[in-house]
Amino acid sequence: MEITLRGVRGSIAVSDPGMSFYGGNTACLEVRTGQGDMIFLDAGTGLRKAGEGLPDEGEAHVFISHGHADHIVGLWFFRPLHLPGWTTFLYLPEWLEPLPDYFFRCGFFPVPFAQLRGAVVPRLVRAGQSVALGQGGRASVETFATCHPGGCLGYRVCADDAVLLYTGDHEIAEDPAARREAVGFLGGADLAVVDAQYGRVNIQRGFGHSAWEDWMELAARAGTRRLVLSHHDPLRTDAELDALGKRLWELGKAGQAKALVGREGLSFTLGSFRHNRRSDDMIALFLEELSAYRDDASLLDRILLKAREITQAEAGTIFLKEDGQLAFAYTHNDVLFSVGEAHRYAYEAIRIPVSLDSIAGYAAATGRPLRVPDVRALLPGAPYRFNDVFDRRTGFATRSVLALPLPGSRGRTLGVMQLINSLDPFDGAPRPFSEEMERDCLALARKVSGILERSAAERRGIYGILRMAAVHDPFETGPHAERVGAIAAEIYHFWATMRGLDQDLVRHEKGRIRLAAMLHDIGKVGVSDLILKKPGRLDPDEFAVMRGHVAIGASILADGLGDIADMARDIALHHHQRWDGRGYAGTTDEGRLAGEDIPLQARVASLADVFDALVSPRCYKRPWPFAVALDYVAGEAGRHFDPELAGCLAGIRDLLPSIYARFPDESLLAGAFRPS
Ligand code: C2E
Ligand code: SIN
Ligand code: SIN
Ligand code: FE
Ligand code: FE
Repeated sequence: MEITLRGVRGSIAVSDPGMSFYGGNTACLEVRTGQGDMIFLDAGTGLRKAGEGLPDEGEAHVFISHGHADHIVGLWFFRPLHLPGWTTFLYLPEWLEPLPDYFFRCGFFPVPFAQLRGAVVPRLVRAGQSVALGQGGRASVETFATCHPGGCLGYRVCADDAVLLYTGDHEIAEDPAARREAVGFLGGADLAVVDAQYGRVNIQRGFGHSAWEDWMELAARAGTRRLVLSHHDPLRTDAELDALGKRLWELGKAGQAKALVGREGLSFTLGSFRHNRRSDDMIALFLEELSAYRDDASLLDRILLKAREITQAEAGTIFLKEDGQLAFAYTHNDVLFSVGEAHRYAYEAIRIPVSLDSIAGYAAATGRPLRVPDVRALLPGAPYRFNDVFDRRTGFATRSVLALPLPGSRGRTLGVMQLINSLDPFDGAPRPFSEEMERDCLALARKVSGILERSAAERRGIYGILRMAAVHDPFETGPHAERVGAIAAEIYHFWATMRGLDQDLVRHEKGRIRLAAMLHDIGKVGVSDLILKKPGRLDPDEFAVMRGHVAIGASILADGLGDIADMARDIALHHHQRWDGRGYAGTTDEGRLAGEDIPLQARVASLADVFDALVSPRCYKRPWPFAVALDYVAGEAGRHFDPELAGCLAGIRDLLPSIYARFPDESLLAGAFRPS
């Protein structure tokens, strides 16, 4: 059977930003069996999400452990209740009689029971009863009483030669007889999902919930091998749960039960069956999410994260084909960098040939996925070798690898996604990637290729405009534009993160700013070479002409470019405004703005533009060292620059060297911009 955690919070749903990793939805566990039974244990808010991806007809079995709100509020929003093609069997503890009144009285929900479009068949169950499911009754759900104010049922799901135990709410009592009883119901379970709302430090006796330490002790006595802690207290933050997870890992390594902190979306396979329609549903939902993203970096980030979720991979990289080579395009690595730090490596200038002798190269050259169980024990005769440069440089230990070609249209290969070290969720040890993982990731790769190609086409459009400009000024425009785009994007990212903006919005905006900022100086195409390439200082008349580049840029960008047009125009027109109001938006002083009247994106691009101009050689000046340029920017905070943003440039200083390494003035890219 396949089990998915849909809600792992207890008491009440939460949506705090510091709790979203483990998830804020309340109790719900989804179980699919080999006979096609669809079982939901508890109907907390997690049930709503579980219902989203379902087809238009079917049969669901929903078991309610008890009537407390956090275990039932999702029921009304379970899609099958509102679809004529569905029958939902609703199993309720007998003391919740009379049904349907329990759920559909007192105006909790606007639709009366009789008007639900789906069929709902209520069934009362009592402790000790066994419910047979499916044809031939090969799956069963046994119930038992747990210790909770007002009563509660726990469930034991037997299917596919495996046993799943779910406690519902349960307080492990102190007395030996009660503890023996709990050991009894844990006994023989392949996986137990338990109520561990508290730890011993903060347990509230009599509230009907347990401390995780008690479960560890009972699991040891019962011989339960795998324990999932759930029903987290609504006050528990991701940081606390992360710390708990680390403790559990240590304890597991020291010979105690393998336990992990339950998190929304995590799924497990027990026994002989793995459901696979879920992956199609998952991919369909994911594609909807992806359609909100604009630029390559954010798309790659999301795709990689999703593939890592599917495979529980510790690290991963996406390479894109550029000039017949594989260029390092995006990476994640949980061991080497904390979340949000990985993007530094987005700019690393690593390239691998498309050839049979590396793992990623092999996948690209053959167009076929490659699964390597252990890079230290390659099959004799394998044409590829494991390149350990990265491991040696960083101390990371690569074991298993899954390399997947990213297919494009007309049989082309866009690049390769390489996933590293699939981690066993229970003990964190690297294991080989499975055939199912390969299949799911390939399905994902096929589905995202259209989106990636579209984004690449948009980028090519922008390159086309820049290349036209480069005919005029070949040496500045290309890499300068790339760097200003990248620096502006990172300044914005830092600023938005400091301000606590929603990360999805930030990713989306970051990509748009990056593309729009690349076009900031496009108006220089309208300035004479005599001025643009003058080796010395400009005289006032020449500088007045030069100032016109901002208005020329804005008029060039008046249309086209889809939804980044407005931003690109703002940046082109306002990137020489100054915070103190002494900048310009044209040849005259008309249209001058100051402070927050200058569009944010233009303030960001201005900072990136000046920094890059300072550290680069120009026909009129020598390059400045980074440290001198950073000091200069700091000194101009509140004068030339928005002081808050100036601080953000300092905040991303560690990223700058890799950006300059990725887009040097004399790079392959610079070559691409040179008129041929
Ligand atoms: P750019 O070279 O991309 O420089 C962008 C901005 O960086 C400049 O905007 C200025 O704010 C800053 N910047 C660049 N170099 C220096 C420097 O040595 N010291 C200081 N303190 N700031 C610097 P600005 O001044 O509005 O100039 C806009 C564009 O006009 C420049 O773009 C460049 O293409 C051109 N330009 C400016 N001054 C001269 C010059 O003396 N000679 C020539 N040939 N071109 C110039
Ligand atoms: C990140 O840098 O962590 C996200 C990158 C992006 O979305 O551009
Ligand atoms: C992460 O956010 O870095 C973890 C991704 C995962 O493995 O689910
Ligand atoms: Fe400019
Ligand atoms: Fe510039």
